[in-house]
Amino acid sequence: MDFSEVRERSAAREASGAERERATTGSPLQRLLDAALTITGATSGSVMLLDTEAARLSVAAARGLDDRIVRNARPKLGASVAGWVAATGEPLLLGDPHAMPIPRSPGREDVGSSLCLPVRGRGQILGVLNLNRGGQTRQFSEEDLQRGLVLAAVASTLIELTRHADQLQEARRQVERFRLELINAREDERRRIARELHDNALQSLADFIWQLTACKRLLTVDPPRVRGELRRLTRSLRSTIKEIREICQDLRPTILEEGLLPALQAYVAEFARRTGVAASLQWTGDQPRLRPEVESSLFRIIQEALNNVRKHARARKVRVHIAVRGGRLRVRVADDGVGFDPRVLSRASSRGLGVANIRDRAQLLGGECMVTTAPGQGTRVSVGIPLDAASPSAPAPRPGQPEGPQ
Ligand SMILES: Nc1ncnc2c1ncn2[C@@H]1O[C@H](COP(=O)(O)OP(=O)(O)OP(=O)(O)O)[C@@H](O)[C@H]1O
Ligand SMILES: [Mg+2]
Repeated sequence: MDFSEVRERSAAREASGAERERATTGSPLQRLLDAALTITGATSGSVMLLDTEAARLSVAAARGLDDRIVRNARPKLGASVAGWVAATGEPLLLGDPHAMPIPRSPGREDVGSSLCLPVRGRGQILGVLNLNRGGQTRQFSEEDLQRGLVLAAVASTLIELTRHADQLQEARRQVERFRLELINAREDERRRIARELHDNALQSLADFIWQLTACKRLLTVDPPRVRGELRRLTRSLRSTIKEIREICQDLRPTILEEGLLPALQAYVAEFARRTGVAASLQWTGDQPRLRPEVESSLFRIIQEALNNVRKHARARKVRVHIAVRGGRLRVRVADDGVGFDPRVLSRASSRGLGVANIRDRAQLLGGECMVTTAPGQGTRVSVGIPLDAASPSAPAPRPGQPEGPQ
């Protein structure tokens, strides 16, 4: 080959800024193609990859070809020069275009001489390397063909390496995905345990302080009653320990083993007895079967709303009303206490978790929660959930958060 001619061609190619940019930032295949053009003195060329499923070739790297041709070239196996080489695995050295056994593709009539070489990897055709010289330049020789075959072998190695690199990258991405899923699952679990501890163990422990304070007051006035209360407290403390153990074992509240309604009846009666607040429970409509986690979430919601009544409301009455109608289950806990400014709930400084937990639980069940209150107006906590997702046969609902209710 005449090296001054090669240098000239290289210089001409480098004259175009865009081309230069592509050559330096291009893929390994692009760089190989550019080197192949330089080495064989070709004026244009492409590397095409075979999609075995579609039985078609497409351009992976190109130089000196019309962009439109590059974009649209999707020759079938067996059709056109490249398709024929990919189908037969035979290299083609085409000289006189008029003497070609296969017609030139449209838009390629100016090509004077072509090398079309199969790119093989592990006995399979991976694609083809096309090298062309314009009509005015010297035709490719047998020597060019041999050089081209060496370059096609290098292309094969590059393609395989690129595929391995892609697989490696995909594997890395997958590991990263798993890692994030693991972190999320751990966070969900922490949130769930925090919620369980808050709604269950912490509530009971807070109750104990409150009952112990009452005992202290009664100590001198009514010692027999204090003894009775202390016996009851000891029993409650045992049951709290049992409940904590159950949280550790990921169990649902034992009280719910009898079903949601009996559990609520027992809880509301006990609440009234302990607090002196006239608490009532009413259930209207059907009593559909609910998934265990739905039952325990509803129980926790009502438990937190009642605990707020006890802690904050100074109420005389509280009504718990559950209504099933129109495919929804609605829970309302309404007290006639002091009420409060609901803006308290959206304040970042608010340290309470209870109402936020009620909201979370309702959302996790695909429903919503509303707190209606004003100072001096009592408080109403309303929660609505769709029943279709709550029945035991239904798949778990897909709320905004990734975690599932427990
Ligand atoms: N029934 C109610 N009557 C009056 N005020 C209430 C009532 N429910 C909630 N509040 C007010 O809303 C605030 C937020 O309630 P939330 O349950 O979120 O937190 P908390 O009860 O203070 O603490 P935590 O529930 O985390 O132990 C309460 O501090 C209280 O001021
Ligand atoms: Mg609370």
